[in-house]
Amino acid sequence: MISGASTFVEGVDNAFLFIMVISFFFLIGITLTILVFLIRYNHKKNPKPTQVKDSVALEITWTVIPLILVMGMFYYGYVGWIPMKRPPDEGVVVTANARMWSFSFRYENGRVSDKLYVPKDTAVIINLNALDVLHSFYIPAFRIKEDMVPGLVNNRTWFEATKTGTYNIFCAEYCGLQHSYMISEVVVMEPEEFWEWYHDPDAMVMEVPDDADPVLLGRQIVERQGCVACHSLDGSTVVGPTFKGRFGETITVMTQGEEREIVYDEEYVKRSIYEPDYDITEGFRAGQMLSYEGEISEQEIEFIVEFLKSLNE
Ligand code: CUA
Repeated sequence: MISGASTFVEGVDNAFLFIMVISFFFLIGITLTILVFLIRYNHKKNPKPTQVKDSVALEITWTVIPLILVMGMFYYGYVGWIPMKRPPDEGVVVTANARMWSFSFRYENGRVSDKLYVPKDTAVIINLNALDVLHSFYIPAFRIKEDMVPGLVNNRTWFEATKTGTYNIFCAEYCGLQHSYMISEVVVMEPEEFWEWYHDPDAMVMEVPDDADPVLLGRQIVERQGCVACHSLDGSTVVGPTFKGRFGETITVMTQGEEREIVYDEEYVKRSIYEPDYDITEGFRAGQMLSYEGEISEQEIEFIVEFLKSLNE
């Protein structure tokens, strides 16, 4: 009925339209009936109220008709929903990792991306994995939404995109302070284009042009990974310590329960990204951040360091 971006669109929209049409029919019908009765049976025109005795025909009518209507709603809802619950055996398998407050996608060949790249007209099976708290994986254009529950194994969803383009991915479960920033995109490509991207050997290494600005690259990584959701760039405290004016300073941290002073240097930055709970900055709590090992490369950390240095100026 409505052409959409995935094979689920028709089923979901049919159920939605069916319910909408019935709702509007009754909204208008009941409102009109009230108005007609107001005029026809008001006190002046009809001073003596008529007693209506129970009518079997009427009782049956208003039981059977709504029953048919709700069974119709159930039917459209059910046929639209059941294919979502039956992922095919074959397809592109992607693991979606959700954390406060970003998504990342890992493909079977080890490729990791912050956007979900998928081929058109191919089943894409998504393993939903929440690393910390409840999140929800929501692609409105595809009509899919599935909770991501920490510790829940075999939690999957799937879709088959039918149109190339870029569509929003939202987290649809309130998961803390920066929940509204937990967004990403799904990019639907022609299959050849996708497989080229998938097998691109250079894809794992960041391409750095000679004239690239390392500070800018660092900023892009920090923004893309969602670091700024917790670490401010202006000196204010959000969830973790700010990034501003820290690099090169001597800071007080708790390391394995011991207080010590260390220099905020490249080594410290790397350890904090890979083992966030190793050194806890004074005034903050452990357990707020998960390791980014496998998601932020050592090469990328070098750019992040350049960006952090630039914040001292
Ligand atoms: Cu994750 Cu809201």
